Amino acid sequence: MQTNIAVLGAQWGDEGKGKIVDMLTPHFSTVARYQGGHNAGHTVYVDGKKFVLHLIPSGILHPGVTCIIGNGVVVDPEALFKEVDELGRLGVTVDGRLLVSEKAHVILPYHRELDVLSEARRGERKIGTTSRGIGPAYEDKIGRRGIRVCDLLGDREALATEVRENVSARNRMIKDSTLDWQPVFQQLLAHGERMKPWVADVSLVLHQTMSAGKSVMFEGAQATLLDIDHGTYPFVTSSNASVGGICTGLGVPPKAIGGVLGVAKAYTTRVGEGPLPTELSGELAERLRETGQEYGASTGRPRRCGWYDAVVVRYSARINGMDAIALTKLDVLDGLPEVRLCVGYKTSAGVVTEFPADLRLLVDAEPVYETMPGWSTPTKGATRIEELPAQARRYITRLEEVSGVSCGVISTGSDRNETIVAPESPVARWTASPVR
Ligand code: IMP
Repeated sequence: MQTNIAVLGAQWGDEGKGKIVDMLTPHFSTVARYQGGHNAGHTVYVDGKKFVLHLIPSGILHPGVTCIIGNGVVVDPEALFKEVDELGRLGVTVDGRLLVSEKAHVILPYHRELDVLSEARRGERKIGTTSRGIGPAYEDKIGRRGIRVCDLLGDREALATEVRENVSARNRMIKDSTLDWQPVFQQLLAHGERMKPWVADVSLVLHQTMSAGKSVMFEGAQATLLDIDHGTYPFVTSSNASVGGICTGLGVPPKAIGGVLGVAKAYTTRVGEGPLPTELSGELAERLRETGQEYGASTGRPRRCGWYDAVVVRYSARINGMDAIALTKLDVLDGLPEVRLCVGYKTSAGVVTEFPADLRLLVDAEPVYETMPGWSTPTKGATRIEELPAQARRYITRLEEVSGVSCGVISTGSDRNETIVAPESPVARWTASPVR
């Protein structure tokens, strides 16, 4: 029996999940996304060519792999078609391999506008969203007025009523707005026609896949600290990016998840607003940003950079039941005279070692750091632990101790091959099975 595993972000996103998913995909028959939308951006390099995928799982680059967009995802049909067309130009066909849940909610054209408006209304308290309409689409879903993929293919009268009601609600929200519902309705019908071949009962397909003994990878987008419930609320995305989102976002039972791999960078980054306790400024931040190419894959925004925060990763490990860490971008730290690990925060309420719910505790918090010597021999491109300089190995060992989880994968460069898989780790077990 194969193990189905979850690969998800352990920090604030952009941990390099794309590469890890891509590397593990040959061992799985299916890759399924369970939340988020085209706010995500997975950058993958294959033979030196750069691919950025936003909505479709990066497994699509592997022939024969089925890629699923679950009901927990919010789908912007235009973004989906754009990605399918781009893949087509690169010679990757999706037909027969891409499935979109009939229950997934649709991002409507004006959700984007509402996203921007809501940010403007928040002023200085803005979230720093990706302006993709993600939040407003989930608001409509939870408000029970959302439009699902199956609605585009069902009763036209019912869809017309829903769209009319939605557009008038939107018109009431935006001053002096008189958007006509009919063009929106016509566009949705056309979108439904194009999506039709991909639409499926995703829960049933996954059940059949797993019953046939084939293994599935559940691919998270964003990350645990951006989770609507467990992240740094309100500076979060509007879905459950942590492990719980898998069951609700795909219609699979908890027992289906046999392993959890949390992806964490060897330092920390974040885009958008909200607390980042280990944030650096000045030369060091600039050094990490430039060496790590820390610019948003979706929006191009410069990412905020800081030291590795073990309080955050230990928290993620608890929330997700992480079996192992995939530690990425270790090579970005190459050449630094010293490296630091955050093991607690000095706050107005004393030293805190568990991630707090009340963000006010973090406002003036000072990280408690352990400082270790850096390494001058590069780790870049290493494929075995023994190839790493002793100082880098000591850093990883200490990072594992303070995070409470071991590294199953260490990534030492952006290419698929620049990777160490720790022997005897759960990851070595998951990848021991023959390539699909
Ligand atoms: P939204 O998901 O566009 O509503 O944005 C909410 C927050 O999540 C903002 O801080 C975004 O920068 C952040 N966010 C959304 N998607 C990603 C991602 O894929 N990587 C990193 N941050 C993200």
